[in-house]
Amino acid sequence: MKENILKFPKNFLWGAATSAHQVEGENINNDWWRWEQLGKIKDGSVSGRACDHYRLFENDFKMARELEHNIHRLSIEWSRIEPLPGKWNLEEIDHYRKVLDSLKENNIKAMVTLHHFTNPLWFADLGGWKNKDAAFYFSRFAEFIAKELGDKIDFWITINEPCIYTSRGYLESDWPPERRSIFAARQVMNNMAKAHRGAYRKIHQVLKNGNIDAWVGMAKNNIFYEPYCKYNPFDRILVLILRYLTNFLFLNKIKKELDFIGLNYYFHCKSRFNPLKIRNSFAEIKNDNKKVSDFGWEIYPKGIYEVLMELKKYNKPIFITENGVADKNDVYRSKFILDHLKEIHRAIQDGVNIKGYLHWSLLDNFEWKEGFKMRFGLIEVDFKSYERRIRKSAKVFAKVCKNNSLNNL
Ligand code: FCB
Repeated sequence: MKENILKFPKNFLWGAATSAHQVEGENINNDWWRWEQLGKIKDGSVSGRACDHYRLFENDFKMARELEHNIHRLSIEWSRIEPLPGKWNLEEIDHYRKVLDSLKENNIKAMVTLHHFTNPLWFADLGGWKNKDAAFYFSRFAEFIAKELGDKIDFWITINEPCIYTSRGYLESDWPPERRSIFAARQVMNNMAKAHRGAYRKIHQVLKNGNIDAWVGMAKNNIFYEPYCKYNPFDRILVLILRYLTNFLFLNKIKKELDFIGLNYYFHCKSRFNPLKIRNSFAEIKNDNKKVSDFGWEIYPKGIYEVLMELKKYNKPIFITENGVADKNDVYRSKFILDHLKEIHRAIQDGVNIKGYLHWSLLDNFEWKEGFKMRFGLIEVDFKSYERRIRKSAKVFAKVCKNNSLNNL
């Protein structure tokens, strides 16, 4: 049989992603921690020590290196750095300096997220992202990080998934702050867009003075929508509207201040117009669900090709900043990764400028409202002993990272 090797571009980056609250542990000063204490997490857990990554980061990065990763996405926990408005905790800066140095020692590039769902308590108590000064507070934090740690950061993600944050916190209201208001949601989205633009400018300003050419982007969760029935004009119009509102609107607001797009891909929605589904934007989701993860999310690799092609019009470099599967027993993950990478490769062939792939996640971790049950890690974590065990799929992925190609498919 003819050997079929799919090569990725030279200097393509390979790695995994995490976020502070999900892995570090003891992030006691943010709104998620406070909310967890009210018994809101489905499996009755709280984030607690999470993966104890705050202490074990050196070990974790060494494992990432052994797995051939050359980029890692992490987030800096705002509530640790700025426990009170305008009061900076320099010990925590030292901590993150060590974290970033440890990545460098392992030859792993650092992609740093500044906002990954959690807010300092003081910020939440001032009205959070609804506050008219939210963008000011966030840009000030971004500026501080740029001054203190900017020389150690290769790629910046200002905000992770603003649309998910807004919809879970202000529309579905099953995440903090559990408000249900379209007006508040609109305000939050606009403030997040403004905050991104402000942070983008501050980071560039600070780093330009140090002659560093910063790369600043954001992480956007985009969904592959398709009409349930291609011949039904209502289904088609519905898809156009959903795509515009959830995939493009936020990017359109910030596209002038954006060096690259971070794409988080998890979902496919075959959407049928249903006038009774008012709360769900008149959409009834009718996926075939031939394969689903432990989470019940459909596994649909072709969708990543489609959303990548949709992003081509922005003419920006793209990183896949998240893509992964809840799979405790590691039965789907290897194929999941290879199938998605094939589609990513196809998008590259079709002209999309993709710079790297970061799998979600390096470690099993605290999956927000689901608690610890959903296991997304390339590395399995025992949440009692904090021992780590490399999953088989992690080794399959490591081969791809090492070869910069998919072989014999
Ligand atoms: C994304 C989040 C990430 C993780 C994955 C499964 O929406 O950014 O923190 O929870 O989903």
